[in-house]
Amino acid sequence: MREITTVGVIGLGTMGAGIVEVFAKAGLSVVGVDGTPELAERGRGFLEASTGRAVAKGRLSEEDQAAVLGRVTWSHRLTDLAGADLVVEAVPERMEIKRDIFTTLDGIVREDAILASNTSSLSLTEIAAATAQPQRVIGMHFFNPAPVLALVEVITTLLTDDEVTGAVRELAVRLGKKPVVVGDRAGFVANALLITYLARAIRMYETGHVSREDIDAAGKVGIGLPMGPLTLADLIGLDVVKEVCDVLYAATHEPSAAPPALLQQLVTVGRLGRKTGQGFYAYE
Ligand code: CAA
Repeated sequence: MREITTVGVIGLGTMGAGIVEVFAKAGLSVVGVDGTPELAERGRGFLEASTGRAVAKGRLSEEDQAAVLGRVTWSHRLTDLAGADLVVEAVPERMEIKRDIFTTLDGIVREDAILASNTSSLSLTEIAAATAQPQRVIGMHFFNPAPVLALVEVITTLLTDDEVTGAVRELAVRLGKKPVVVGDRAGFVANALLITYLARAIRMYETGHVSREDIDAAGKVGIGLPMGPLTLADLIGLDVVKEVCDVLYAATHEPSAAPPALLQQLVTVGRLGRKTGQGFYAYE
């Protein structure tokens, strides 16, 4: 079995920064890459803040925090991924950006390195087709917040090598996660289950017959989910929720998957949820 000891993470937003944290806490060496030195620095800031909160709560010692931070190097150059055994891409959900990155990575990483995408909505098959070696391309889809939620969807295409699937699955277990292996279909497993529920909650809110707080109370207190659907949509990011709706609707034509008008408008005006400070709710 191949050894995975050095990993690269491209894109250091909410998901990418969380994925860096998961790898570093599991003892792997990590290279975190984003497009500019400032964005790479922002990634470092996210990791310092998140591990700092854990120290403040007494869940992590200061020595362990220093060890986690010491395992990560930060860069704005993809060429710094030349030594990686595995690269996980977590940039915004734009097919052309992802395909460009995968094509470029082909010429940078070792022949035997694995190329993974954290895409939550795009076709992994289309991403893999942008590379010269699609057999080493796989999905590694984490859930937000990545340091807390244990599921990792391991997404395969018709061409993914079984050995690559096995290695990524084993790595997910090493990270303390529960891997589920799924073929390349719109929404994979979890989003295909979740997104129509979120869209339904947004439509309910649009009708005005029940407040956002009461919709969320019903989901949390009544159904027993960890948070209500509108709070969860804000956490995931309304742009991501809309993108998954679009992809599911295009694939299934099920009216329940169509993005609600309010969701589309919130995305258009840049109210994307927690990450922009405003979505269905306002955040500090
Ligand atoms: N990073 C690191 N740790 C975090 C965190 C973050 N962003 N957010 C919360 N935590 C930690 C807290 O520090 C806390 O740890 P301790 O118990 O050790 O102190 C723990 O998680 C619980 O947090 P809180 O006490 O603050 O709050 P909570 O009990 O309400 O849990 C939650 C918060 C983990 C977010 C929980 O509400 C939850 O699981 N919500 C559902 C989230 C969910 O369904 N996510 C999936 C979205 S779908 C997706 O991501 C896929 C996609 O493609 C769209």
